[in-house]
Amino acid sequence: MQTILITGGAGFIGSHLTRLFVTKYPEYKIINLDALTYAGNLANLADIEDKPNYYFVKGNITDMPLLQNIFEEHRVTGVLHCAAESHVDRSITDPLAFVKTNVVGTATLLQVAKQSWNNDFDNKIFYHISTDEVYGSLGGEGFFYETTAYDPRSPYSASKASSDHFVRAFYHTYGLPVKISNCSNNYGPYHFPEKLIPLSINNILHNKPLPIYGKGENIRDWLFVEDHVKAIDIIFHKGKIGETYNIGGHNEWTNIDLIKELCRQMDLKLGRPHGTSAQLITFVKDRAGHDLRYAIDATKLKNELGWEPSLQFEEGLSKTIDWYLNNKEWLNNVVSGHYAAYYDEQYHKR
Ligand code: NAD
Ligand code: TYD
Repeated sequence: MQTILITGGAGFIGSHLTRLFVTKYPEYKIINLDALTYAGNLANLADIEDKPNYYFVKGNITDMPLLQNIFEEHRVTGVLHCAAESHVDRSITDPLAFVKTNVVGTATLLQVAKQSWNNDFDNKIFYHISTDEVYGSLGGEGFFYETTAYDPRSPYSASKASSDHFVRAFYHTYGLPVKISNCSNNYGPYHFPEKLIPLSINNILHNKPLPIYGKGENIRDWLFVEDHVKAIDIIFHKGKIGETYNIGGHNEWTNIDLIKELCRQMDLKLGRPHGTSAQLITFVKDRAGHDLRYAIDATKLKNELGWEPSLQFEEGLSKTIDWYLNNKEWLNNVVSGHYAAYYDEQYHKR
């Protein structure tokens, strides 16, 4: 019997991962530990909250006594560590919040796993979910490989890089059985509308400007979130201890081309004349230290474990838009309250 602690399970990727594990592995006990920050939302898990193998604990990954209790009471055998502060713009405004959760929180979780497992590492796994942003910024050519030297450039990516280093240090120093994956930009249902795609969908629905940083020439490699969590499932069960796996979509878009495609699809779905949504595109002041390009080489994952993305981007984007159009109540709830204050603060200074 496996007991898996998922941290940050009420967030975007965490909720997809929790749903996958709870439904695919009814024999596993799944504990979701989440502090329910602005990004955590139990509505993301409403369809599985009554499953007998699912448990929710509200709490912080920096709270060592709480973590110790969870490990002891539930005899945790695996960790899927998703909890993080995840938004680059917020990291520019408040870097220390990222140090607390991403660095101190991860180190606390590692320490509790090490103490609780007490050198009995058989059938234990500490899986750390990380980002391609730790590798820095690419020029026009080349890819991020698992061997690419770390070169984080935002407070967010620096905090994630630091957490990755702690995970590897616990492997090399104490033999903790760790796995790490570094994934490219995700998109899909339940994505918090501070990030580019859901923010733009929400703004198109409300005929508000679509803020494009700089000239919109920055490039991201987009992956449908369900493909990401399928990769995590495969790595968790079949990946090698101590290894790192890059996960990516081989799907590079400049921000401006992506938003034009989004506008095209939204016009069609909303029955608006072609070109209506694109008129909302507004170029605004660039993000400080804005990384130019991310692109993942996921050959290792394909060759060793057979994973490949299942969806073409246009199809994944269409599914994503449909989900937001069919879940306006979710969207409206998320953008009420503190969201308006965040939006004003973030976009009125640009
Ligand atoms: P998110 O911001 O949507 O969710 C983060 C979750 O963690 C929220 O539920 C939040 O309440 C919880 N949380 C935050 N601080 C916490 C704390 N101190 N204690 C307990 N819970 C806390 O993030 P996401 O986009 O789902 O990202 C999940 C993970 O995947 C992160 O580690 C992120 O770095 C990584 N990642 C994200 C992407 C992406 O495109 N979103 C890509 C690659 C990797
Ligand atoms: P984001 O979704 O914040 O992800 P990340 O910074 O982690 O890649 O941003 C994706 C890209 O879109 C990034 O190049 C910044 C840009 N962007 C905008 O142009 N406007 C926006 O309002 C936001 C949120 C992002």
